[in-house]
Amino acid sequence: MAVRLSDQFLEQLRDRTDIEELIGEYVQLKRAGRLSKGLCPFHSEKTPSFVVYPDTRSYYCFGCTKGGDAITFIRDIENLDYIEAVKFLADRAGLQMPDEQYDDSLIKKKKRMLELNKEAARFFHEFMKTPQGKPGLDYWLGRGLSPKTITHFGLGYAPDGWEFMNHMRDKGYSNQELFEADLARKNDKGNYYANFRNRVMTPIIDLHGNVLGFGGRVLDNTKPKYINTKDTFVYKKGLHLFALNFAKSANEDSLILCEGYMDVIALHQAGFTNAVAGLGTALTDEQVRLISHYCSKVYLSYDSDEAGRTALKRSIDKLSKTNLAIHPLVYTEAKDPDEIIKKFGPERWKAILSGAMNETEYKLALCKEGLDISTDDGRAKYLRKAVPVLVPLGAIEKDIYASRLSEETSVTKEAIMARVNSLSRQQSGRYNKTDFAELSKEMNRRKGTTVAKVEGQRGLKAEETLLVTLKNNPDFLKKIEGDLTPEDFVSDVCRHIYSVFRERINSGQSIELDFLSSELSGEEMSVLVRMQNSEFDVTNTLEEAKTCVKILKDERRKREQPKGADLTDEDLSNLFKKEKN
Ligand code: CTP
Ligand code: MN
Repeated sequence: MAVRLSDQFLEQLRDRTDIEELIGEYVQLKRAGRLSKGLCPFHSEKTPSFVVYPDTRSYYCFGCTKGGDAITFIRDIENLDYIEAVKFLADRAGLQMPDEQYDDSLIKKKKRMLELNKEAARFFHEFMKTPQGKPGLDYWLGRGLSPKTITHFGLGYAPDGWEFMNHMRDKGYSNQELFEADLARKNDKGNYYANFRNRVMTPIIDLHGNVLGFGGRVLDNTKPKYINTKDTFVYKKGLHLFALNFAKSANEDSLILCEGYMDVIALHQAGFTNAVAGLGTALTDEQVRLISHYCSKVYLSYDSDEAGRTALKRSIDKLSKTNLAIHPLVYTEAKDPDEIIKKFGPERWKAILSGAMNETEYKLALCKEGLDISTDDGRAKYLRKAVPVLVPLGAIEKDIYASRLSEETSVTKEAIMARVNSLSRQQSGRYNKTDFAELSKEMNRRKGTTVAKVEGQRGLKAEETLLVTLKNNPDFLKKIEGDLTPEDFVSDVCRHIYSVFRERINSGQSIELDFLSSELSGEEMSVLVRMQNSEFDVTNTLEEAKTCVKILKDERRKREQPKGADLTDEDLSNLFKKEKN
């Protein structure tokens, strides 16, 4: 998509957007001198590594290396594309978008697909109420849902025949459009047919009330039990939580994360309106971010089968990295929340919530599983597994759980604490990232050090120094351009940044950050912001720029010669140790 917004417009937008204030609407920031710091909204963390630089109107996370300007921030946090993000900021700043200067076909396409989805949802719901739709209505009622709940969630029924396709075509939607929304499929002969047939339909609705897609369930036990809308222009499963549109206004500081639509609907009907569900993917970072945004406590309700337990463990690993309090729910008397409510009523569910274990209790329970702690052997094994669970805890919690373990195992608390402390010491002294990719990424991030032995490191430093110099002194380009081509750069990222710089400088355009996000990818913006804000010495002299060009030429020559011996893992970890000291 060709997006060309004028620099004048972007300049106005920049002047009316205070990046600190903007990001402050999403992240709690704390001023520290010329910077602001907070918990990164793009990855899970407990201590702040996300920095906003008001001076350069940029941000950078030292944990996940995401960075950029106001536009990239909104693009990522609101899951918009470039032009939508600009429009979002323009609306916020009270600026009119320039007419006809940009290609907004994607925005129009998304809008149209959302209208199409809404029409489909309306159709499924209305059809359910007709005589032909009775099987659908009866299904929902048979599952204990009230007419009120059915309306509240906009539940419906998809006919077995052609009624849906005919209705949508009457409304002016083409086969191709229905296909793109995943509401129609195409057979070998190229004919289109409805994707959802003879299924009860649950619309998936986002925080703004848009219908993003559907989950369609069979009325009996045939397979597949569910058909779900695949990812489309408007729907990316991993970015949403089912029923968050309702749950966000439940007056609770907690969410109940369930596995299924049906569980959520049953819980809401029973008064637990803070229930949400993932949409058929393992818990994603974006979903964790959403959860953290709306509450500080999350109950996890996963089926008690093996698959459910594995999913639970993975979710806990993810959520552990945040400040959220985690409460896994364990129940054996039924398969899922829907069944609990149906069999035992809402009171039982309430009791399950209030008796929920916390993260540590749950982890300790897992350690004990399958062991007979009435035997010495069982107790010893239990302790061996339990001690590492205590290591990351704060002092008070360590004390509490050491006491409990002591009671359970009849080993003195002092002995248990001694083990915990010695393990803590061991772990803090060891660096466990021996993985090559991680290590070199880490090294690349540390500026101001030259690790010449690592292949390409010299070139990496030179290309970054050169780009920063150029950014600060665009007039240097004329004096070095003759010697330098994009191919001389070591990394793809810097190569592309250079090409963009070169083109913009040569056509008299600014290379300030605020104008680049339509041409640079998210990763490229991040690297640029990191370079620009990092403190490694750049003398900003033409002489240094020329030296960098020489190094890049030199490195390229080496690159194009046959390779020398590769570094072993051991070499790398030795290097790393040296660097750390
Ligand atoms: N799911 C799916 N496709 C399947 C089975 C399950 O997408 N073939 C997803 C659905 O989102 C479903 C969730 O996984 O809501 C949980 O599955 P399951 O526990 O099997 O379904 P329930 O929600 O319990 O549905 P029901 O009570 O209607 O059987
Ligand atoms: Mn169920």
